[in-house]
Amino acid sequence: MATASKLLLTDLISGVNHVPSKYIRPISDRPNLADVQVSSEGSIPLIDLQDLNGPNHSDIIEQIAQACQNDGFFQVKNHGVPEEMIDNMLSIAREFFRLPESERMKMYSDDPSKTTRLSTSFNVKTEKTANWRDFLRLHCYPLEDYVHEWPTYPPSFREKVSEYCTSVRGLVLKLLEAISESLDLQKDYIVKASGKQAQHMALNYYPPCPEPDLTYGLPGHTDGNLITILLPDDVPGLQVLRKGKWVAVNPIPNTFIVNIGDQMQVISNDRYKSVLHRAVVNCNKERISIPTFYCPSPDALIGPAKELISHDQPAMYRSFTYAEFYGKFWDRGLAKECCLDLFKQN
Ligand code: OGA
Ligand code: NI
Repeated sequence: MATASKLLLTDLISGVNHVPSKYIRPISDRPNLADVQVSSEGSIPLIDLQDLNGPNHSDIIEQIAQACQNDGFFQVKNHGVPEEMIDNMLSIAREFFRLPESERMKMYSDDPSKTTRLSTSFNVKTEKTANWRDFLRLHCYPLEDYVHEWPTYPPSFREKVSEYCTSVRGLVLKLLEAISESLDLQKDYIVKASGKQAQHMALNYYPPCPEPDLTYGLPGHTDGNLITILLPDDVPGLQVLRKGKWVAVNPIPNTFIVNIGDQMQVISNDRYKSVLHRAVVNCNKERISIPTFYCPSPDALIGPAKELISHDQPAMYRSFTYAEFYGKFWDRGLAKECCLDLFKQN
């Protein structure tokens, strides 16, 4: 097949020494990698969940509150997801992207409404500039509704990924309780506000890039869902906007990166922040990252919790269904202006 007809980046790049023009950002919108803060000092907080149910409970809740309010991002260790499941998940992802093109292409679709699909960039139907990424996107809760759509190669894909999703969901539910509590809401407030809930996952694959200063793996964006649990491999690439500066987050083994999504910002009535982040690429190494996006169900009605609305802090958003938000999110692409602005009031 001629290079120009390749749909996935993985299959396009062999022998490419320059970034093809559709991936090149205008000069005003490049990563400026020399300007990025790389020291771990000033990076996002690391929270140990070991004692969440112990005597230090209120201290951990306070750490979570501070992180959600000031950083929008934190890392968690002793999170309860077994190391073996994490290793399996990363290995399966690596193996999947190494499958022959013909096997991978069975999963290809550029329709964002499909619940299982392999695609590239972000939304090839609507975007002007492409991103240096291929991704497999899966819906994974309730599992039994979706597992039959998942890839059958590598052969252990369904089994290993199911285990991982179920375990990560357990962590999400713990965090949603803790976050509800940190907002002085009933422990089950956020889960109840999310209706039947949904869990999506992406297996992001960022191939090495000959000119990483010209393009992004993913440009600056906020996550549209409730909360994201990111499993990074050991190659740096995630950067978070802190006090106006991009800061690299260096992966720590067996540690997840958690961030507040747009829906949490709405429910908390702007107390908690859905923060801009991006993925950059590098010359030498492929990179894999596996975000779990926990979401309200499409029919859930999302709005600021009434307990968090007062004379001094009026409701910042109108209510909307998650389906309405989700449609706009994929259509707009990863614009810097947060999709949430469309739902602001006052
Ligand atoms: C995302 C995302 C960051 C990364 O998929 O929404 O922000 O490091 N990924 O891949
Ligand atoms: Ni993101």
